[in-house]
Amino acid sequence: MSIRGKHVLLGVCGSIAAYKSAHLTRLLVKAGAHVQVVMTPDATNFITPLTLATLSGNPVLVDYFDPTSGEWNNHVHLALAADAMVVAPASANTLAKFAQGLCDNLLCAIYLSAKSPVFVAPAMDLDMWQHGSTRSNMERLVSFGNHIIPPGNGELASGLSGEGRLAEPEEIVVALEAYFSLPKPLAGKKALVSAGPTREAIDPVRYIGNHSSGKMGYALAAQLIHLGADVTLVSGPTALQAPLGATVVSVTSAAEMLGACLAHFGGADITVMSAAVADFTPKTVADQKIKKGAGHQPAIELVKTTDILATLGKQKQEGQVLVGFALETDDGRASAEDKLRRKNLDFIVLNSTQDKGAGFAGDNNKITIIHRDNTVEEFDLKPKPLAAADICARIVALVNP
Ligand code: CTP
Repeated sequence: MSIRGKHVLLGVCGSIAAYKSAHLTRLLVKAGAHVQVVMTPDATNFITPLTLATLSGNPVLVDYFDPTSGEWNNHVHLALAADAMVVAPASANTLAKFAQGLCDNLLCAIYLSAKSPVFVAPAMDLDMWQHGSTRSNMERLVSFGNHIIPPGNGELASGLSGEGRLAEPEEIVVALEAYFSLPKPLAGKKALVSAGPTREAIDPVRYIGNHSSGKMGYALAAQLIHLGADVTLVSGPTALQAPLGATVVSVTSAAEMLGACLAHFGGADITVMSAAVADFTPKTVADQKIKKGAGHQPAIELVKTTDILATLGKQKQEGQVLVGFALETDDGRASAEDKLRRKNLDFIVLNSTQDKGAGFAGDNNKITIIHRDNTVEEFDLKPKPLAAADICARIVALVNP
């Protein structure tokens, strides 16, 4: 696969590097892509829409409303029509708007509606690029699953020299080609991923929860999407933005998560249960806030929740891949092996809270994978998206032996 025949929405922002978007448009068209250029109003001060319209063979869009044709440029349709959105150059201002979800122009509205992968190629002066605000905006954009085409190092329009110049148009085309040439070994497969914590209500204002951030499950969902799977993400309460392309089912309690997982498990070729599900829930939920009146020492009676993974393991059919996690507070290998067999899993991913730098809320994880044939793979501490890639590679091997 290549970008031939793909619909590329090229966003151009107000930056001196906008002159390179003419060359980029030309290269994309030559590579066989259909190019729709959308400019921010400020970008038109740097390069004319006429130039980019002529090179792309399509009218350039700037505003929601086109006074010449009297037509409304529907951002949702534009976003859905794109196989990829590329913003080059992406100015510091537009990056900040993307990071915060502002949408005061057509390009920003399209970004918020995009279901396709989004590639962002920043261009700005050295100091702007290094500023803490820009750094944190970039981190947010990465956490939303956007692809960053980093700026190059060299002479800048300001006369300074350093990092900040727009990647060369050839590099941007190579990044797109690389994305579309990625093997999609899970194309046509349906995946179910659970993520995050659950919350078990005690009374209308309190609950029993845990420290899970959901980062590992969201990284798994993103990686499975990259590999071509159609992903349903059953998520407990998290602060995370779901990966583009995932169908999200939001749940709160273990009972709700059980219901959502059972509803999707039958149709799933691959199921990864990474959620930190409560093992116990209050037997009764007080319908009024429990008061702390003098001498009153409330005791909460707990009952066991249903083990979702074990339930799915019992229903598992030939050809379904089922993966679980085991969180242990010690070495935990024996306990994980027991869970692997008891819950009828294809493999289990062991995390230990003893591993420094790994764990619930952090960005890194150190995993050990235990397979059904008792082979054990130990991995180094690494960012959760890379740990997710290791896990998904084992899933691909099971799906396509
Ligand atoms: N799990 C589940 N439903 C539960 C509890 C756990 O589906 N009610 C799943 C988790 O998502 C994970 C696996 O079971 O994939 C193991 O979870 P873990 O908390 O490590 O183990 P438990 O089976 O709950 O056993 P224990 O707490 O006694 O270690």
